[in-house]
Order: sequence, then C-alpha cells, then structure tokens
Amino acid sequence: MKKRVLITNLIPETAYQKLSRRFQVVWNKKQFSETQLAAKIKPFHAVLTTLADPMTAKVLSSAPNLQCVANFAVGFNNIDLQTAKSRGIQVTNTPDVLTEATADIAWALILSCARRVPEGEKLVRTTGFKGWGALFLLGQDLFGKTLGIYGFGRIGKAVAWRGRGWNMPILYHQRHRESLAVEKRYNAKYVSFETLLKRSDILSVNSPLTPETKYRFTSKEFKQMKPKSIFINASRGLIHREADLVKALQTKTIFSAGLDVYEHEPKINPTLLKLSNCTLMPHLGSATLETRTKMALLAAENIELVLTGRKPKTPVIK
Ligand code: GLV
Repeated sequence: MKKRVLITNLIPETAYQKLSRRFQVVWNKKQFSETQLAAKIKPFHAVLTTLADPMTAKVLSSAPNLQCVANFAVGFNNIDLQTAKSRGIQVTNTPDVLTEATADIAWALILSCARRVPEGEKLVRTTGFKGWGALFLLGQDLFGKTLGIYGFGRIGKAVAWRGRGWNMPILYHQRHRESLAVEKRYNAKYVSFETLLKRSDILSVNSPLTPETKYRFTSKEFKQMKPKSIFINASRGLIHREADLVKALQTKTIFSAGLDVYEHEPKINPTLLKLSNCTLMPHLGSATLETRTKMALLAAENIELVLTGRKPKTPVIK
C-alpha cells in the first residue's frame, strides 16, 4: 500500500506532482486551524507544512504513523521539535534556496525606508503629485552607511553581501564569531549587541526565532539606536516587541522601520498601520515563483527521502 502524504496548504504544484508519483497525496488548499490539523493528520506518514501550520504537541501526537514534517520555510518555530524528536519524527526545512530572495526583500525594505517610498507612492495616488520641491519628502543617503546584521547566517550574509554595492561597512552580532576569512569576505566586524545597536545606521534582523531571540528588540534597545537609524525585520515578528517599535517610531526614537513580519501574524498593530515612517510588507521574503518552486521541490524531496528510508537533504534535527 502506498504511503500517505498530506500537503496542508496551497503551494507550487510541482510538489504535488513529484509526491503523487510514489505516494497517495491529499492536497488541502486552505489554512487549517490547530484543531483541524489534529483531526485530519491521523492517517498520514508525512506532512508538507507551511509556517502558518501550528505543528504543536497536540497535532504531532494525533498522528501515530507520522515519519516526516517537511516545512515549506527555512524557519521552523511553528513546529514543536521536542515532541517531534521524542516521537522519532524527522523535521526538515528549506534553507539555501530562499536565501537570495529573502535578502532582496530586506534590501527592498532598506531602500524603501531610506527614501520614503511608501509616503511618496501614497501621495501620488491620493492627494496627487503637486510639483517638485527641493525640501520635499527628504530621505537619507545609504552609500557608505554602516549596515548592522543581527544573525549572520545564510540570509544575514546575503544581506551584507549586497551592502558592497553601497560601500557599506558591516557590523554583525550573533552567539558566535565567524572565522577571519568569512569576516574578510563580507567586510564584516563582530561586535557586541550593544555596539550593534549604537553604531548601525541600518539594523537588519536576520536571526531565527528562538527563546533567546524572542523580544530581543524592545523599547530599551530602540532607545540605544541612532535617531536616524532604520530597523529592518524580515525574519520573525516576535524578535521585536511590536508595541515598543510603534512607540519608537511615533517618538522618532528611530527614523524608520521596514517590516516583512509581525508579532501576531497576520494581525498587525493598528497604530503601526497609521504611521508613515515604516514600510510594511505581508511576509513576502521568499515570494518569487522561482524560489517558491525550489522550496516546494526541496520539501517534496525531503519527504520522498524519509518515506523511502533515506536521510533527508535538509534535516532540522541532525
Ligand atoms: C519564511 O519566513 C521562512 O521561514 O521561510
């Protein structure tokens, strides 16, 4: 009998086509709640999930045959790893293939914040473009500014790499220091968290969400940043406290923020929506057809490998 695979959400069809060759696949195309997932998952040997699927202990424990959870994302904070591990369930993610697209979104936010793109765009469409003005909607130069990276993993490095085009010195902070060769390659300097806050003109969050990084950026941290600094988060919303960021933007403690992610996604703090000194995107980090297709194929490949008794290509639990 063919093993059974559940795809929980709408993703590129290539994953369904690939998996259907060997397995019996059910493709759900709307978001499941935790209760719905727990009710549906029982007969499946593998599940292809997205970051919006709460793969909690309750859900994982409802699936006695489950061998693999393949997340269609590089982040995996939606999955209870401890429960998965204790039940011998493989968990995989989709790193590498989305690095460049996600770094592009961080840079879209950087440029947008520095040059006040949403304000200009909104004005043209609403009150209208009334004529050029020497002091109108002035932004900030980016060339030569210091780019700070919190979380110097694959995506953090790709964000830093793009900074070469703007001749940017790079500062980074994370738990461990990189080798000298890596630092040289990226023109990057390892600094304390406090120095990162104080010296960055642009501070880009690129770390995973972990108990250690949760609420790493609160009022206390925003107050240490430069008044002209730009805060970017294209990683996970819970790494900053949204209400504190709103306060920092309202009081001009920082210049601007560019967000692709939110504390209680998809909900967004209503005051944030009213502020003009921020660029808000609906979690589009990896959202290009090329990248999403690669993610779908990688997730499907991981499932195929696990269900045929082999090691997955990109396991989260090593
Ligand atoms: C997107 O946020 C991802 O983790 O892939």
